[in-house]
Amino acid sequence: MAADRVVINEVGPRDGLQSQSRTLDLDQRLAMIEALVAAGLASIEAGSFVSPKAVPQMAGTGELFARLPQRERVRYSALVPNARGYELARAAGANTVSVVLSATETMNRRNINMGLDETASVCAALMQRAAADGADGWAYLAVAYECPFEGPTPVETVERLAATMIEAGARKLIVADTIGAANPAQVRTLIRRLADAFGAPRIGCHFHDTRGMALANVLAALDLGVRDFDSSVGGLGGCPFSPGASGNVATEDVVLMLESMGVETGVDLDALVGAVERCGDLLQSPLGGHSFRWLRRRVEQARKHAHA
Ligand code: COA
Ligand code: ZN
Repeated sequence: MAADRVVINEVGPRDGLQSQSRTLDLDQRLAMIEALVAAGLASIEAGSFVSPKAVPQMAGTGELFARLPQRERVRYSALVPNARGYELARAAGANTVSVVLSATETMNRRNINMGLDETASVCAALMQRAAADGADGWAYLAVAYECPFEGPTPVETVERLAATMIEAGARKLIVADTIGAANPAQVRTLIRRLADAFGAPRIGCHFHDTRGMALANVLAALDLGVRDFDSSVGGLGGCPFSPGASGNVATEDVVLMLESMGVETGVDLDALVGAVERCGDLLQSPLGGHSFRWLRRRVEQARKHAHA
């Protein structure tokens, strides 16, 4: 991939929606995804195949997959916590499946009710299965910088878990700052280590904006060669299993920053403004990252000029 092009992996329909108190029905989840596709997003985490008791917001993801707008250029991924989820996801047509391996004992326990070693071996088995089935397995390394229960995460732990996932056949490692605690210096340290060990093209970064440092963290990772970033429309998000986490870095903030720097994302910012508004309407709560008001004003002014 050219140095001036980045993949934006939109996670609003899963990471974003799962933390909302309002549960969208399948038509509403589809409307959200359609708006994102219309804005040019070509990599979308559409949902998860998890226990509907654990995450009611993601119930019905199998039916959702059957109804997704199919475009040649668009890749949909699904999060799976176990073999059952993997099988449901594959049966629903998902060709990209993600697992979440948290770096600490407690976080894995809270999230999927298994300890660290057991989660690592379940995730490794799923990555092997995906590789054998010709699917793409992606491995999230969650709480990679800090855990809300166990504090700072040692770099060595993340490197060890990353190696386990790569050896098992993971096509991509997504390094997740699940609670938005990382600063750019920590990002430099961890991402440099992982990029040296596994190559920057294998790495995606997932930042939350809890402390307002997500864009700075994106830039730190970009400077180290990372060309794949998770973000969510309007900054939607949080994590029901990690207290204190707020939204993901907003897609419009990342796209605006990168496009201003001359880095291509394939996303149409004006259409993205429409997608942010559409999602806010669906959730009945206004959304928007740091740049949203400015972006919206720009769209409104352009409309006025067009009518003048
Ligand atoms: N999809 C749908 N249902 C599932 C499932 C899956 N992948 N895996 C298990 N279940 C069901 C079981 O059938 C069981 O249902 P029942 O109570 O009606 O019998 C129930 O979920 C509990 O299953 P069990 O195997 O006892 O697991 P558990 O209670 O230890 O929960 C998980 C483990 C992984 C299923 C659950 O914690 C989970 O879904 N977590 C996902 C959390 C998440 O999405 N986190 C976001 C990532 S950041
Ligand atoms: Zn997240």
